[in-house]
Order: sequence, then C-alpha cells, then structure tokens
Amino acid sequence: MNLDTQRLILREIKWSDLDQVHKLHSYKEVDEFNTLGIPANRSETRNVMRPVIKDQKKKKRKLYSWAIIEISSRKFIGLAGLTLTADRFNMGEMYYKLEPQSWGKGYATEAARSIVKFGFETLHLHRVEAGVATENVKSIRILEKLGMTCEGTRRKILPIRGVWKDNFHYAIVEDEPREY
Ligand SMILES: CC(C)(COP(=O)(O)OP(=O)(O)OC[C@H]1O[C@@H](n2cnc3c(N)ncnc32)[C@H](O)[C@@H]1OP(=O)(O)O)[C@@H](O)C(=O)NCCC(=O)NCCS
Repeated sequence: MNLDTQRLILREIKWSDLDQVHKLHSYKEVDEFNTLGIPANRSETRNVMRPVIKDQKKKKRKLYSWAIIEISSRKFIGLAGLTLTADRFNMGEMYYKLEPQSWGKGYATEAARSIVKFGFETLHLHRVEAGVATENVKSIRILEKLGMTCEGTRRKILPIRGVWKDNFHYAIVEDEPREY
C-alpha cells in the first residue's frame, strides 16, 4: 500500500532499501531522539526491517514502514511508519525520520499528514498516536500542525544514550477536525 503526496511517494520498504535505511539510522542527527541507537552493523538494521517486511505478506496487516521518496529527484530521503495495536483499540502509532539534507522543507509534515489520512480514511482507525521526546521541538511542531493533541507526559521513559528522557504522548481521534 503506497501513499502519494504532492512532492513525495511513500513506498513500502523492501530489502533493496537496506543500505539506505542503514545509512539513515547511522546519522548522529537522526539518532538524537531515537531509542534504537546507531546500528553497529547492517545485520542490526536487517533485524529492524525483517518483521516489517514479513508483515507485508500477511492478510491482516499490523506494521507499515514506508521509504519516503522525493518525486523531483526520485531519491530515498527517509522512512515513516504506522504500527497498529490490538484490534479492539483500533489505533495506530506513527513515526517518521528524514535524512538531514532533506530537513526544513516541510517534507516530514507532508508525509505525516498522508499517514494520518491513510489511518482514518483507508484503515478506518479510531485514533492515531505519536510519541515525541519533549526536547524534539521540530517533531512537536509537526504533530501540532497535524491537529494532534498532547495528552500528557510520560516521564523518564525513553532510554537515549544512557539517559532516561521524557516523552510527550500525542493523539488525534477520528471525529476531531482535520484540515487535510
Ligand atoms: C523531526 C524531523 C522529521 C523534521 O523534519 P522536517 O521535514 O524538517 O520537518 P518539517 O519541515 O515538515 O516541519 C518542521 C517544523 O519545525 C519547525 N522548526 C524547525 N526548527 C525549530 C525549532 N528550533 N524550534 C521550533 N520549531 C522548529 C519548522 O519551522 C517547521 O514548522 P513550520 O512548518 O511551521 O515552519 C527531522 O528533523 C528528523 O528526521 N529528525 C530525526 C528523527 C526524528 O526526530 N523523528 C521524529 C521522532 S518523533
């Protein structure tokens, strides 16, 4: 299931994306608020990708991970995803990350919007959620622009380079206003 926006294509990841996903996860800047940490080798990146690629063959999907492709250059510029919860909650948690060269162009907002739309309009979810480190001001801005609400702070929950960091919990519910 691919998603199209004005400037981006979100294409479900495949094994041939391994090198680019590995490179993306290896940037110090991209890792700043990431609990996974910089992968020690390609095999660690493969282990992160494996369950998602396996899920693509399932009838009942739970894990979506998209390569973000810039239409103008046809280049891989990042990753975004949606992880669904148990059926009775009918929710998904979204994430996104871009190569530093592609920051500051509104791309993450554009990708995240298309995922929220996909969650509500195609999957008919009840809620879409996202967690964000309280220091991650750019990502907080994106979630606010999407009309998501900060529902609270989960204190000292993110293990980031040996320090427990706080996380804001954001969500949008299906019957809330969206301008997209
Ligand atoms: C967070 C991230 C995805 C942002 O990507 P991006 O494409 O640059 O984001 P956008 O351009 O769509 O939007 C960023 C917004 O933050 C704003 N912003 C940038 N720096 C800011 C700062 N220091 N303080 C407040 N807002 C800031 C931008 O102005 C923009 O808002 P605007 O459209 O109102 O001007 C990117 O920096 C990234 O990949 N970071 C590493 C991974 C990560 O943190 N992912 C999110 C995990 S929750």
